[in-house]
Amino acid sequence: MTERSITQFDLPTGFIDLGMGNPDLALLPIDALRQSAEAYFSANDPRPLQYGIEQGNGYFRLALAEFLTEAYGASVEPDLLFVTSGASAALDLLCSLFTRPGEVIFVEEPSYFLALRIFEDHGLRVVSIPMDDEGLIVDALEGALAEHSPKFIYTIPTFQNPSGRTLTQARREKLVALAQQYGFLIIADEVYHLLAYGQPPPPPLAAFVKDVKQVISVNSFSKILAPGLRLGWIQAHPAMISKLVGCGMLDSGGGMNPFVSALALGLIETGGLTENIAGLRAEYSRRLGIMDAALKTHFPEAVYTLPKGGFFFWVRLPGRDMKEMRRNVKKYDVDYRPGALFSSREEMQDFMRLSFCFYSSPEIEVGIERLKKCLPSI
Ligand SMILES: Cc1ncc(COP(=O)(O)O)c(C=O)c1O
Repeated sequence: MTERSITQFDLPTGFIDLGMGNPDLALLPIDALRQSAEAYFSANDPRPLQYGIEQGNGYFRLALAEFLTEAYGASVEPDLLFVTSGASAALDLLCSLFTRPGEVIFVEEPSYFLALRIFEDHGLRVVSIPMDDEGLIVDALEGALAEHSPKFIYTIPTFQNPSGRTLTQARREKLVALAQQYGFLIIADEVYHLLAYGQPPPPPLAAFVKDVKQVISVNSFSKILAPGLRLGWIQAHPAMISKLVGCGMLDSGGGMNPFVSALALGLIETGGLTENIAGLRAEYSRRLGIMDAALKTHFPEAVYTLPKGGFFFWVRLPGRDMKEMRRNVKKYDVDYRPGALFSSREEMQDFMRLSFCFYSSPEIEVGIERLKKCLPSI
C-alpha cells in the first residue's frame, strides 16, 4: 500500500489476488448512490446530519423491514432492527456488551478469520466446533456443552465464509433449541444470505428472533451494496434490542451512521437495492461457473463442493501445505488464502479459499492458470 492509497486493497497492476473477499470495484453502485445523494440533498432535510436516535433512523428501519420481509418471505418488524456501522462493528459491540475477557465462545471450524481477530481483541477463549457439508455439526456442539459453558456461538449459517456451506433447516432448529436449553447466545452472521445463485437457502436465523431471545442476527450492506458505506443491522428480540440501545457508546455518539442510512433509505425506496442485488447475483453466478470450469481444467485433483451462494470456493488439494506453498505464489502475480488462516486449531492445511467475486471472468481464468503454474500437481 502506498501513502496515496485510498483503499486497503490497492494491488500492483496485473496482480490477481483470488483470496480477496471484497466486492469488485466495477460492481459498486456509484450511479445509484449518486442519484440517492442528489435526491437527499435536494430534499434539504438536515436531520440525518444531526446525532441520530439510538436504534437507528426510524424511516430507514421501516424501509429496511419492508425490504427484508420481501427478501426473506417472512415478516420483519422495524422495531426488531438496530442499525450498525457494519457486521464487524456489530460483532465488536456484542462482545463488549455480552462477554468478559477469559470467557469461552464457540466458533465453527473453519470460520471467518477476521471475526476471530475481533474475539481475540476481547480476550475470549475460542473453542471450535467441526462442520460437514450440512454446516455446523450441531451434535458435536451438544457434546462440547458437557465441557464448556459458552457465552455464545458465532456461526455463519448461510454460504459460509470460507467454506460456502449452508446449515440445514433441521440443524438450525436443533441449534436454537440447544441455545434455549443451555442459555447461550447464537450470533448468526448472515451477510451472504441474500446472495443465492440457485435455490433459495433455508430461512435466515433472523426468522427466530421474534420468539427466541438467544438468537441475534447480524447483517450488512457490505456484500449487497458497498462496504465503504459501513452500514449494517442487527435483528434481535426486543429484550436484546433494549440492551443494545442502552449502551454507553450510543448514549454518547447517538445511533450509528444516520447520514449513510438516509442515502440507503433512498436506494431501498426506489428499488435500487433490489435491482443491485439482482445484478450481483446474475454476475456472480456467471463468475462462479467460470471458476468451476477453470478449476476442473487445471486442478482435476481438487476436492470441493460447488458453492450455491456467497463469495467463495473452499478447495482442498489433498496432501499439500497451502500455507507453505503460498511463499512462492506472489512471484507469479497471483494469490489465495490458505486454509490454516480460518482454523482456530492450526488445521485445514491443505485447503485454500478462492473468491469468484472480486475479479472479472477473464481475470479469474488467468488467475487459475497462474495458480496451476505455481502449484504443479504432486
Ligand atoms: C462472514 C463475514 N462477516 C462480516 C464481514 C464484514 O462485514 P462488514 O463489512 O459489514 O463489517 C465479512 C466480510 O468479508 C464476512 O465475510
